[in-house]
Amino acid sequence: MSIILLGPPGAGKGTQAKLLVDRRGYIQLSTGDMLRNAVSEGSDLGKKAREIMDKGEFVPDDIMVGIISEKIQKIGDSKFILDGFPRTEGQAIALEELLRLRSRSLSAVIELRVDDDLLIKRVTGRFTCTECGAVYNDNYVIPKVTGICDFCGNTDFLRRSDDSREVMKNRLDIYNKHTAPLLEYYKNKGLLRSVDGMSSSDEVEKQISGILDAKIAAKG
Ligand code: AP5
Repeated sequence: MSIILLGPPGAGKGTQAKLLVDRRGYIQLSTGDMLRNAVSEGSDLGKKAREIMDKGEFVPDDIMVGIISEKIQKIGDSKFILDGFPRTEGQAIALEELLRLRSRSLSAVIELRVDDDLLIKRVTGRFTCTECGAVYNDNYVIPKVTGICDFCGNTDFLRRSDDSREVMKNRLDIYNKHTAPLLEYYKNKGLLRSVDGMSSSDEVEKQISGILDAKIAAKG
Protein backbone atom coordinates (compact mmCIF):
# COMPACT_ATOMS: atom_id res chain seq x y z
CA MET A 1 0.00 0.00 0.00
CA SER A 2 1.23 3.50 -0.87
CA ILE A 3 -0.82 6.25 0.75
CA ILE A 4 -0.72 10.03 0.56
CA LEU A 5 -2.06 12.15 3.43
CA LEU A 6 -3.12 15.45 1.91
CA GLY A 7 -4.23 18.55 3.76
CA PRO A 8 -3.26 22.07 4.79
CA PRO A 9 -0.65 22.88 7.45
CA GLY A 10 -1.94 21.76 10.84
CA ALA A 11 -4.53 19.35 9.40
CA GLY A 12 -2.99 16.48 11.38
CA LYS A 13 -0.98 14.71 8.65
CA GLY A 14 2.05 14.13 10.88
CA THR A 15 -0.09 13.06 13.85
CA GLN A 16 -2.01 10.52 11.75
CA ALA A 17 1.10 9.27 9.95
CA LYS A 18 2.73 8.49 13.31
CA LEU A 19 -0.39 6.58 14.44
CA LEU A 20 -0.29 4.55 11.21
CA VAL A 21 3.37 3.74 11.84
CA ASP A 22 2.62 2.56 15.41
CA ARG A 23 -0.66 0.78 14.77
CA ARG A 24 -0.38 -0.53 11.21
CA GLY A 25 3.36 -0.79 10.54
CA TYR A 26 3.63 1.83 7.80
CA ILE A 27 6.86 3.69 7.02
CA GLN A 28 6.32 7.46 7.29
CA LEU A 29 7.95 9.61 4.62
CA SER A 30 7.62 13.19 5.89
CA THR A 31 9.35 15.72 3.66
CA GLY A 32 8.95 18.41 6.36
CA ASP A 33 10.83 16.19 8.87
CA MET A 34 13.51 15.41 6.25
CA LEU A 35 14.06 19.12 5.63
CA ARG A 36 14.10 19.93 9.37
CA ASN A 37 16.75 17.19 9.86
CA ALA A 38 18.83 18.80 7.09
CA VAL A 39 18.45 22.17 8.86
CA SER A 40 19.65 20.77 12.20
CA GLU A 41 22.60 19.02 10.51
CA GLY A 42 23.56 22.38 8.95
CA SER A 43 23.99 20.83 5.48
CA ASP A 44 23.91 22.98 2.30
CA LEU A 45 20.36 21.75 1.68
CA GLY A 46 19.44 22.64 5.27
CA LYS A 47 20.77 26.20 4.95
CA LYS A 48 18.83 26.75 1.74
CA ALA A 49 15.68 25.05 3.08
CA ARG A 50 15.63 27.01 6.35
CA GLU A 51 15.28 30.35 4.59
CA ILE A 52 12.44 29.05 2.43
CA MET A 53 10.62 27.26 5.27
CA ASP A 54 10.82 30.27 7.59
CA LYS A 55 8.87 32.26 5.02
CA GLY A 56 6.33 29.46 4.57
CA GLU A 57 7.24 28.96 0.90
CA PHE A 58 7.98 25.74 -0.99
CA VAL A 59 11.40 24.20 -1.57
CA PRO A 60 11.84 23.78 -5.38
CA ASP A 61 10.31 20.66 -6.96
CA ASP A 62 13.61 19.27 -8.32
CA ILE A 63 15.14 19.20 -4.82
CA MET A 64 12.04 17.61 -3.26
CA VAL A 65 11.70 14.98 -6.00
CA GLY A 66 15.40 14.08 -5.58
CA ILE A 67 14.93 13.61 -1.81
CA ILE A 68 11.78 11.50 -2.07
CA SER A 69 13.19 9.42 -4.94
CA GLU A 70 16.12 8.36 -2.78
CA LYS A 71 13.78 7.39 0.10
CA ILE A 72 11.40 5.41 -2.10
CA GLN A 73 14.32 3.47 -3.56
CA LYS A 74 15.56 2.63 -0.05
CA ILE A 75 12.29 1.29 1.32
CA GLY A 76 11.82 -1.29 -1.44
CA ASP A 77 8.41 -2.98 -1.33
CA SER A 78 7.41 -1.79 2.18
CA LYS A 79 4.09 -0.06 2.68
CA PHE A 80 4.49 3.66 3.17
CA ILE A 81 2.65 6.85 3.87
CA LEU A 82 3.61 10.18 2.32
CA ASP A 83 3.16 13.18 4.62
CA GLY A 84 3.84 16.55 2.96
CA PHE A 85 4.57 15.22 -0.53
CA PRO A 86 3.44 15.86 -3.23
CA ARG A 87 2.60 19.55 -2.83
CA THR A 88 2.51 20.61 -6.49
CA GLU A 89 1.28 19.02 -9.70
CA GLY A 90 4.92 18.68 -10.82
CA GLN A 91 5.69 16.64 -7.70
CA ALA A 92 2.55 14.51 -8.22
CA ILE A 93 3.58 13.65 -11.80
CA ALA A 94 7.15 12.87 -10.72
CA LEU A 95 5.84 10.60 -7.95
CA GLU A 96 3.75 8.57 -10.39
CA GLU A 97 6.81 8.03 -12.55
CA LEU A 98 8.96 7.05 -9.54
CA LEU A 99 6.36 4.47 -8.49
CA ARG A 100 5.86 3.20 -12.04
CA LEU A 101 9.60 2.54 -12.36
CA ARG A 102 9.32 0.33 -9.27
CA SER A 103 6.16 -1.40 -10.60
CA ARG A 104 4.11 0.27 -7.86
CA SER A 105 1.19 2.68 -7.83
CA LEU A 106 -0.74 4.80 -5.35
CA SER A 107 -3.39 2.98 -3.30
CA ALA A 108 -5.23 6.03 -1.94
CA VAL A 109 -4.97 9.76 -1.31
CA ILE A 110 -6.61 10.70 1.99
CA GLU A 111 -7.65 14.31 2.48
CA LEU A 112 -7.87 15.69 6.03
CA ARG A 113 -10.50 18.46 6.04
CA VAL A 114 -10.10 21.20 8.67
CA ASP A 115 -11.36 24.83 8.80
CA ASP A 116 -8.79 27.64 8.65
CA ASP A 117 -9.53 29.02 12.15
CA LEU A 118 -8.84 25.64 13.73
CA LEU A 119 -5.68 25.17 11.63
CA ILE A 120 -4.26 28.42 12.99
CA LYS A 121 -5.11 27.43 16.58
CA ARG A 122 -3.47 24.03 16.10
CA VAL A 123 -0.29 25.30 14.46
CA THR A 124 0.35 28.21 16.83
CA GLY A 125 -0.15 25.86 19.82
CA ARG A 126 2.11 23.06 18.56
CA PHE A 127 5.25 21.88 20.40
CA THR A 128 7.36 18.77 19.86
CA CYS A 129 9.57 16.53 22.00
CA THR A 130 13.21 17.05 20.93
CA GLU A 131 14.05 13.41 21.73
CA CYS A 132 11.30 11.26 20.17
CA GLY A 133 9.41 13.79 18.02
CA ALA A 134 6.05 13.31 19.81
CA VAL A 135 3.75 16.19 18.84
CA TYR A 136 1.75 18.12 21.49
CA ASN A 137 -0.51 21.16 21.54
CA ASP A 138 -1.16 23.86 24.16
CA ASN A 139 -4.87 23.72 23.36
CA TYR A 140 -5.52 20.03 22.72
CA VAL A 141 -2.80 17.51 23.49
CA ILE A 142 -0.67 18.30 26.55
CA PRO A 143 1.71 15.84 28.25
CA LYS A 144 0.10 13.92 31.15
CA VAL A 145 2.74 15.35 33.51
CA THR A 146 3.57 18.98 32.68
CA GLY A 147 6.98 19.34 31.04
CA ILE A 148 7.63 15.59 30.63
CA CYS A 149 7.15 13.71 27.35
CA ASP A 150 4.58 10.89 27.75
CA PHE A 151 6.55 8.58 25.48
CA CYS A 152 10.25 8.99 26.35
CA GLY A 153 10.39 11.03 29.59
CA ASN A 154 12.41 13.82 27.93
CA THR A 155 11.93 17.34 29.33
CA ASP A 156 13.00 19.37 26.24
CA PHE A 157 10.45 20.58 23.71
CA LEU A 158 10.68 22.88 20.72
CA ARG A 159 8.38 25.11 18.73
CA ARG A 160 8.82 25.42 14.96
CA SER A 161 10.03 28.78 13.62
CA ASP A 162 7.37 28.64 10.87
CA ASP A 163 4.49 28.16 13.33
CA SER A 164 3.87 31.88 13.93
CA ARG A 165 0.49 33.39 12.97
CA GLU A 166 2.12 35.55 10.21
CA VAL A 167 4.02 32.69 8.50
CA MET A 168 0.98 30.43 8.86
CA LYS A 169 -1.08 32.87 6.81
CA ASN A 170 1.43 32.59 3.97
CA ARG A 171 1.57 28.78 4.30
CA LEU A 172 -2.22 28.62 3.94
CA ASP A 173 -2.21 30.94 0.89
CA ILE A 174 0.46 28.84 -0.79
CA TYR A 175 -1.36 25.62 0.09
CA ASN A 176 -4.58 26.93 -1.47
CA LYS A 177 -2.78 28.08 -4.61
CA HIS A 178 -0.45 25.14 -5.30
CA THR A 179 -1.53 22.08 -3.27
CA ALA A 180 -5.34 22.27 -3.03
CA PRO A 181 -5.64 21.72 -6.84
CA LEU A 182 -4.21 18.24 -6.24
CA LEU A 183 -7.55 17.29 -4.63
CA GLU A 184 -9.24 17.57 -8.03
CA TYR A 185 -6.24 15.92 -9.71
CA TYR A 186 -6.55 12.81 -7.51
CA LYS A 187 -10.36 12.87 -7.56
CA ASN A 188 -10.19 12.56 -11.34
CA LYS A 189 -7.97 9.51 -10.92
CA GLY A 190 -10.50 7.91 -8.52
CA LEU A 191 -7.96 7.91 -5.68
CA LEU A 192 -9.29 10.64 -3.39
CA ARG A 193 -10.97 9.85 -0.05
CA SER A 194 -11.83 12.54 2.50
CA VAL A 195 -12.08 12.41 6.28
CA ASP A 196 -13.27 14.95 8.87
CA GLY A 197 -9.95 16.14 10.30
CA MET A 198 -11.73 18.27 12.93
CA SER A 199 -12.62 15.24 15.10
CA SER A 200 -10.35 13.88 17.82
CA SER A 201 -7.11 12.18 16.69
CA ASP A 202 -8.51 8.74 17.55
CA GLU A 203 -11.70 9.42 15.61
CA VAL A 204 -9.71 10.59 12.56
CA GLU A 205 -7.54 7.50 12.82
CA LYS A 206 -10.68 5.29 12.86
CA GLN A 207 -11.93 6.94 9.67
CA ILE A 208 -8.54 6.43 7.96
CA SER A 209 -8.34 2.81 9.12
CA GLY A 210 -11.82 2.22 7.67
CA ILE A 211 -10.60 3.46 4.27
CA LEU A 212 -7.47 1.29 4.41
CA ASP A 213 -9.43 -1.80 5.52
CA ALA A 214 -11.87 -1.32 2.64
CA LYS A 215 -8.92 -1.09 0.21
CA ILE A 216 -7.40 -4.28 1.59
CA ALA A 217 -10.77 -6.10 1.41
CA ALA A 218 -11.31 -4.94 -2.19
CA LYS A 219 -7.91 -6.34 -3.18
CA GLY A 220 -9.01 -9.72 -1.78
P1 AP5 B 1 5.60 20.22 6.80
O1 AP5 B 1 6.36 19.87 8.01
O2 AP5 B 1 5.13 19.15 5.88
O3 AP5 B 1 4.40 21.17 7.26
P2 AP5 B 1 2.88 21.30 6.83
O4 AP5 B 1 2.44 20.58 5.61
O5 AP5 B 1 2.69 22.77 6.83
O6 AP5 B 1 2.14 20.53 7.91
P3 AP5 B 1 2.35 20.61 9.43
O7 AP5 B 1 3.51 19.78 9.85
O8 AP5 B 1 2.35 22.06 9.89
O9 AP5 B 1 0.97 20.03 9.96
P4 AP5 B 1 0.39 18.56 10.01
O10 AP5 B 1 -0.73 18.44 9.05
O11 AP5 B 1 1.47 17.52 9.95
O12 AP5 B 1 -0.24 18.63 11.48
P5 AP5 B 1 0.23 17.97 12.85
O13 AP5 B 1 -0.09 16.51 12.87
O14 AP5 B 1 1.63 18.37 13.23
O15 AP5 B 1 6.44 21.25 5.89
C1 AP5 B 1 7.10 22.36 6.46
C2 AP5 B 1 7.74 23.18 5.35
O16 AP5 B 1 8.71 22.39 4.64
C3 AP5 B 1 6.78 23.68 4.24
O17 AP5 B 1 6.14 24.88 4.59
C4 AP5 B 1 7.76 23.85 3.06
O18 AP5 B 1 8.52 25.04 3.21
C5 AP5 B 1 8.72 22.67 3.23
N1 AP5 B 1 8.27 21.47 2.50
C6 AP5 B 1 7.91 20.26 3.05
N2 AP5 B 1 7.55 19.38 2.10
C7 AP5 B 1 7.68 20.04 0.92
C8 AP5 B 1 7.43 19.67 -0.45
N3 AP5 B 1 6.96 18.44 -0.76
N4 AP5 B 1 7.66 20.60 -1.40
C9 AP5 B 1 8.12 21.84 -1.10
N5 AP5 B 1 8.39 22.26 0.17
C10 AP5 B 1 8.16 21.36 1.17
O19 AP5 B 1 -0.80 18.68 13.85
C11 AP5 B 1 -0.75 20.08 14.09
C12 AP5 B 1 -1.11 20.35 15.56
O20 AP5 B 1 -2.46 19.98 15.78
C13 AP5 B 1 -0.27 19.54 16.56
O21 AP5 B 1 -0.02 20.33 17.70
C14 AP5 B 1 -1.19 18.34 16.94
O22 AP5 B 1 -0.96 17.90 18.26
C15 AP5 B 1 -2.57 18.95 16.77
N6 AP5 B 1 -3.56 18.00 16.26
C16 AP5 B 1 -3.42 17.16 15.20
N7 AP5 B 1 -4.55 16.45 15.00
C17 AP5 B 1 -5.43 16.86 15.96
C18 AP5 B 1 -6.78 16.51 16.28
N8 AP5 B 1 -7.46 15.60 15.55
N9 AP5 B 1 -7.37 17.14 17.31
C19 AP5 B 1 -6.72 18.09 18.04
N10 AP5 B 1 -5.42 18.46 17.79
C20 AP5 B 1 -4.80 17.85 16.77
